[in-house]
Amino acid sequence: VQIAADDPLVVVQALRTVRRLARGTAGTRWLMAGFTRAPGPATHRNLMGQLDGTGNPDLADPAQRSRILLSGPDAPAWLAGGSYAVVRRIRMLLEHWEGLPLEHREQAVGRRVADGAPLTGGTEFTPADLDAARPDGVPVIAANAHVRLAAPASNGGATMLRRSWSYFDGLRQDGTPDAGTLFVAWQNDPRSAFVPVQRRPARTDALARYVVHESSAVFAVPGGAEPGDWVGRALLAP
Ligand code: HEM
Repeated sequence: VQIAADDPLVVVQALRTVRRLARGTAGTRWLMAGFTRAPGPATHRNLMGQLDGTGNPDLADPAQRSRILLSGPDAPAWLAGGSYAVVRRIRMLLEHWEGLPLEHREQAVGRRVADGAPLTGGTEFTPADLDAARPDGVPVIAANAHVRLAAPASNGGATMLRRSWSYFDGLRQDGTPDAGTLFVAWQNDPRSAFVPVQRRPARTDALARYVVHESSAVFAVPGGAEPGDWVGRALLAP
């Protein structure tokens, strides 16, 4: 269960209510608390200081939404109208990252820190030109830049919707921040979206050096319910 609200007090209250109502039927194995910016534009800054969410698919178009997010014809009937969420707790090595020169941080991602624009120019939502090269032949967006390796164009069209949260759980015993991203990626089939994309960055991505993947899970998320019905009934009480 993911509980979100503009006001953290509401989140805690909802969590306590859900736990109380579920008593005897379902319990809590683990719980993580995250945050994002105040309500506003779709993109936010993550704890590495980068604008995050820019390259997400535009799901205003219902055809795209159902192609990218909603379960397809191969999915079990109980998942109709549902989706899959990959959730990862990814700690950021912030002290290491923050000590790097700006140019290095921008090359690792392929976008400018100040405004999120691709290093090939324009503004935040200008498409990145992955083919652009300097006169000496060196690509403007580095071969190992995160946006190059994660882009659908580099992964046979693999597309996901990232809706991540930041977390800050104080300091670790060594004094470094216990902080990073609660990465959440939605898609209709992780085998053709998250998995192939993660396999590549895990090996070669320039960002990989500055993060530690601490835990990972994948959830099948049933679709919404009509009034009077309840979420997951087709699975739990068919
Ligand atoms: C803490 C770890 C990570 C950080 C700090 C991070 C940061 C970023 C940033 C700054 C961008 C560019 C802005 C944007 O489009 O949102 C981006 C893009 C992206 N990231 Fe990550 N990311 C992380 C992990 C991951 C992981 C694990 C995946 C999936 C395996 C992923 C997939 C993507 C995708 C698909 C894009 C869009 C690429 C495009 O088409 O432009 N990221 N990420």
